[in-house]
Amino acid sequence: MEVIKDYVEKNKERFLEELFGLIRIPSVSANEKNKPDMARATEYIKKSLFDAGADHAEVISTDGHPVVYGEKIIDSSLPTILIYGHYDVQPAEPLDLWKSKPFEPEIRDGKIYARGADDDKGQFFMHVKAFELMNKTSTLPCNVKFMIEGEEEIGSPSLKTFCQAHREKLSSDIILISDTTMIASDTPSITVGLRGLSYFEVEVTGPNRDLHSGLYGGAVANPVNVLSKMIASLTDENNHITIEGFYDDVLELSDQERAEMARAPFDAEQYKKDIGVDELVGEKGYTTLERTGIRPTLDVCGIWGGYTGEGAKTVLPSKAYAKISMRLVPHQKSTEIDKLFEKHFKAIAPAGVSVKVTRLHGGEGYVAPTDTPAYLAASKAIEQTFGKKPIPTRSGGSIPIVSDFEEVLGVKSILMGFGLESDAIHSPNENYPLSHFYKGIETIPLFYKYFTENI
Ligand code: BES
Ligand code: MN
Ligand code: MN
Repeated sequence: MEVIKDYVEKNKERFLEELFGLIRIPSVSANEKNKPDMARATEYIKKSLFDAGADHAEVISTDGHPVVYGEKIIDSSLPTILIYGHYDVQPAEPLDLWKSKPFEPEIRDGKIYARGADDDKGQFFMHVKAFELMNKTSTLPCNVKFMIEGEEEIGSPSLKTFCQAHREKLSSDIILISDTTMIASDTPSITVGLRGLSYFEVEVTGPNRDLHSGLYGGAVANPVNVLSKMIASLTDENNHITIEGFYDDVLELSDQERAEMARAPFDAEQYKKDIGVDELVGEKGYTTLERTGIRPTLDVCGIWGGYTGEGAKTVLPSKAYAKISMRLVPHQKSTEIDKLFEKHFKAIAPAGVSVKVTRLHGGEGYVAPTDTPAYLAASKAIEQTFGKKPIPTRSGGSIPIVSDFEEVLGVKSILMGFGLESDAIHSPNENYPLSHFYKGIETIPLFYKYFTENI
């Protein structure tokens, strides 16, 4: 532990500068115009892996954005840890809400402010630096592989095929991922559940062109009015989703399991204050942690149509659009939910409009066992660096590729995330505490040690 702490202390500034170099590359996977930045990011990571001591590192192209692969095999009889992370980030918009520029990292109040500071550059880069630390201090106890992708934020469309094509190369005993949160610095936790996802864009078309809203208003169905009503009908007064069959496969937790969950600390007043709301709203009969952890939900992620520019234009729009996401829980299957949603949404369209439903992406949730060598190693490592035994929690977020890893590679993942909910991932002013960046780097070698000793 002293060796680890010393190395981090001596190299703190350089670690940060190197992370900043990566953050400065605007690798937004959703934007075509950032394609050259994706290539720059992969080269940067490849070089970092070599510098950190990898025997081999390469950028592998896919149908979409490339994957960075690297490895160090010290002894084929030893276990292998596969690190997964993503170098792509969400778009930074709306830019005017950022206090400092999203791709020019800045330290304020002990936190790194930038897009990707937490999700996932700050988090996966801890693994590169921990790997360097173990190499430089001759404490690497096992084999390591890195798979850093560039399409996580757009649903990992190429990664499942990539895994199928490189099964041998990616063989490992555990997949270690830092891309989730913990409850608080003084209440460490390990994510043992992720939600699945079904994500759609819908288009409602009324008249064949935009019309004068006075001349035609009242005579034809307005697609924006219609879409609003259709969306409103997707949930009832108890915030229960009305899609037929939607809850059929939902795993209901026993009273005992719910009591267990309720032991995780949760401060509703602080939670409300953090996000600026005066009331928490969700499905009737469930607590907030249950609503995000074990219950499925439906949310409109974007809605548009008609005239949204500056000033006035009295127009009756021809089209209206929305992006709708559903978060799923065990044992819902996203492919099943996709079918139910499409069928339902078309069925509720009234006369006078036509509806187009397009699936954007999605995938399955994940539940990780807590009695495995990986969980116990993560628990022991975190307890040592954070001073408290971590609590297992279920997160509301999704990393659909994790269930594909299990299916294609036959390997479980451990979600050892160091983010905080207050890190504002996907939002303006995303940030990551410096203390977590450094503590993460100290925790990872301990995970390697305990995992290798116990497997
Ligand atoms: N790292 C997040 C997921 C996450 C964050 C899980 C915090 C648990 C706690 C990931 O990058 C992400 O944003 N996933 C997307 C899904 C993806 C298919 C676009 C999400 O959850 O919206
Ligand atoms: Mn992420
Ligand atoms: Mn994300």
